[in-house]
Amino acid sequence: MSTAASTTTDSNFSAESYYATQPPPTHLDHEVRNVREFVQKHANAGRNVVLVTSGGTTVPLELNVVRFLDNFSAGTRGATSAEYFLKEGYAVIFMHRQFSLQPFSRHYSHSTHPFLDFLEIEQDGSQADSPARISVTEKERAPLLEVLTAYKAVHTSDLLHTLTFVTVNDYLWLLRAVSQELAVLGRRALYYLAAAVSDFFLPRQKMSEHKIQSGKGSLHIEMDQVPKILKPLVSEWTQGQAFIVSFKLETDPSLLVPKARQALARYGHQVVIGNDLHTRKHQVVFVSPSAGRDNEYVETWIRIEPSQDAVKEIEEDIVAELARRHHLWIDTSLSL
Ligand code: PMT
Repeated sequence: MSTAASTTTDSNFSAESYYATQPPPTHLDHEVRNVREFVQKHANAGRNVVLVTSGGTTVPLELNVVRFLDNFSAGTRGATSAEYFLKEGYAVIFMHRQFSLQPFSRHYSHSTHPFLDFLEIEQDGSQADSPARISVTEKERAPLLEVLTAYKAVHTSDLLHTLTFVTVNDYLWLLRAVSQELAVLGRRALYYLAAAVSDFFLPRQKMSEHKIQSGKGSLHIEMDQVPKILKPLVSEWTQGQAFIVSFKLETDPSLLVPKARQALARYGHQVVIGNDLHTRKHQVVFVSPSAGRDNEYVETWIRIEPSQDAVKEIEEDIVAELARRHHLWIDTSLSL
């Protein structure tokens, strides 16, 4: 199958026309009610809440979907960061691509660290009066206990609320709905938009109902541009109150800072974190507007030694720095 996505300017959707023409996911109302309850509970407790988006969105090519385009992201950045936000005292809404990595269980990914490999059968269980007992290998016991203790504590305190998306349409509807619920928190809401969101999509009205047949040779698809959702998120849905962090992924490192500045100039939010595909696990750049100076920006690099990334996660430093800036952001409003 070959696809050709042509660049088009005459059928671009504004955010408004997107939501007016593309249907919401079926469980949206139910999801929103649960988010509202979670936000209300933590708002009453005076806790800050972060929305972490994580993983890649898909773009289905058919209504009865067999084929889709996907965006790169395993969900490592988002799942790891969510754990550090919990350690910083945040309540976390973790909005992730179905089956991408999640906080806590990410330590036991089936592909890199399958849990069956470190379980042992102590007794064979063949005797009716002595059922089999399973234990954890000596080497894995302490790290598992640490992860399990944190996981249980978070769940007992109801500090982590999980939402899933698959398509870019799910993502856009959920993002808008969650942001409307988070508005009650004003400056105490933080957005950490690490999801890899498709730039192009196929409107429902143009989709084939059934599986596209291959008999006619090459396939040409014209896709529409996904509306730039950061604009209404910053200025309308959060009314400039929330602290908003977006990510910029590039493969050419020289584009990171200029693209991050461009996004800040366009959307007017607080931080863009630039990451290069190949070095993202050990260095990122924070780009933010320079206080009191129009059209000027400050860059701060966060780095860990590449040899250290088995024992130290860069997300620990990213989240610590963001929590510090977010607290300043909240304090600024108190002194206004
Ligand atoms: O999960 P990993 O494998 O660890 O990888 C993490 C990551 C590299 C994917 C992550 O760190 C990252 O860089 N995510 C953003 C990548 C991206 O797709 O950027 P973008 O240029 O499409 O979007 C920029 C920002 O706007 C993002 O924060 C995105 O969530 C947001 N966006 C984009 C388009 C859109 N229509 N709406 C949005 O909200």
